[in-house]
Amino acid sequence: MSIIIKGGTIVNEGRSFRGDVVVEGETIAAIRPAEGEPRPANERSSAAGDEERVIDATGCYVLPGIIDSHVHFREPGLTEKACIETESCAAAAGGVTTYFDMPNTIPQTTTLEALEDKFERAAHVSRVNYSFFFGATNDNVSLFSRLDATRIPGIKVFMGSSTGNMLVDREQSLQQIFAATRLPIMAHCEDTAIIQRNLAEATAAGDDDPDVRLHPFIRSEEACLRSTQKAVELAKRFHARLHVAHISTAEELDLFTTGRDLGPITAEATVGHLYFTLLDYDRLGTRIKVNPAIKSPVDQFMLREALRDGRIATIATDHAPHLLKQKEGGCVRAASGMPMVQFSLPAMLELADQGVLSLERLVQLMAHNPARLFGVVGRGMLRVGYQADMVIVRPHAPWTVSPENILSRCGWSPLEGHEFQWRVEHTLCNGHLVYDRGQLLPGVYGQAVKFAHGHED
Ligand code: DOR
Ligand code: ZN
Repeated sequence: MSIIIKGGTIVNEGRSFRGDVVVEGETIAAIRPAEGEPRPANERSSAAGDEERVIDATGCYVLPGIIDSHVHFREPGLTEKACIETESCAAAAGGVTTYFDMPNTIPQTTTLEALEDKFERAAHVSRVNYSFFFGATNDNVSLFSRLDATRIPGIKVFMGSSTGNMLVDREQSLQQIFAATRLPIMAHCEDTAIIQRNLAEATAAGDDDPDVRLHPFIRSEEACLRSTQKAVELAKRFHARLHVAHISTAEELDLFTTGRDLGPITAEATVGHLYFTLLDYDRLGTRIKVNPAIKSPVDQFMLREALRDGRIATIATDHAPHLLKQKEGGCVRAASGMPMVQFSLPAMLELADQGVLSLERLVQLMAHNPARLFGVVGRGMLRVGYQADMVIVRPHAPWTVSPENILSRCGWSPLEGHEFQWRVEHTLCNGHLVYDRGQLLPGVYGQAVKFAHGHED
């Protein structure tokens, strides 16, 4: 089966140009700039013929499929909230063709057996490509050497307690973890002692479940900064590869370097922290309660700045579905985390329209850089011979998020009622159309991602 995507604007590797993309089988066979467009330097253009299917992309933008390197799909063990099948459908509908899932499931992905079980499950149901972080604990470092580095993006370390009770709090364990692996270490950084102190102060007056508006002051800027500093120190000391998850404060950004090269110490921003500020608690309450907390407009402004100058290397969602009834309460009782994988691309395209970042930079942060940083093989860019993972988006095509179009099992979104101007029209995964103008197409075409760590780009 071959497919030709005709007449769109291709946004790829720092350039935008009109042209066609030819897919044959699972891979990209040709990228053909339109008449009068300069040929891309490193892209061969062949004259493939006999296309069986034409997708008219006139007026649309053709991007490499989004790689979301931070999601919580909740399987196994928490499937009342979400599961691999439902959330991979949401991903496909959002133009996300690859995801890396986190280990705070039940059981936790902290043994080789639990990791294998996730691969097995995904192979049967995942609509898009997948891999799984291995979770570090206070005492499983000895397993690291037995992990197959060609199959996983890295090791997740919770250097701060959050959903799932996976805190690594012993100094010696942290040192062992940072010394034991050359795989990227994805760290959740929030200092638990500072959080506990702030919580004790906030509850001293008698309210044991303070209003969610206090969340950013309990899970404070200081708690983030202190823990991120610690992670960076450990990475430097042990020459580890560190990617700090969900940076949420202006101060933390100073710990990362500018520029387009991906050094050994990098940072992620999430769509939630880029899109919302603490002013939104009034309107959205615990729907936007997340760890680390959504913080001030100044923090958001600085995070957005850092998208452009390279201090932020990747954008992910931290897609963390909970049932709405689990979101009831305040700082203590309400679950932390929000679903986002289906809407991350339209949300970031909206920020691009506002001038926050260019389309080329968006593609770099949401597809190219996750691929480069984690050493993903054959995905993340539109190149001849690469897997045909692609998303075709249309501007000026308004639609509104509502329970009827939410595909995550949890059934709600902090974006309900919001009108987006960009629409995901088609998603291709491994050369198969998996989402087509509002319809999920049948078939399980997700594949296990392959990694070549240390050979990035
Ligand atoms: O808010 C959060 N939710 N932060 C995390 O670190 C975990 C996540 C979840 O799994 O719900
Ligand atoms: Zn997370």
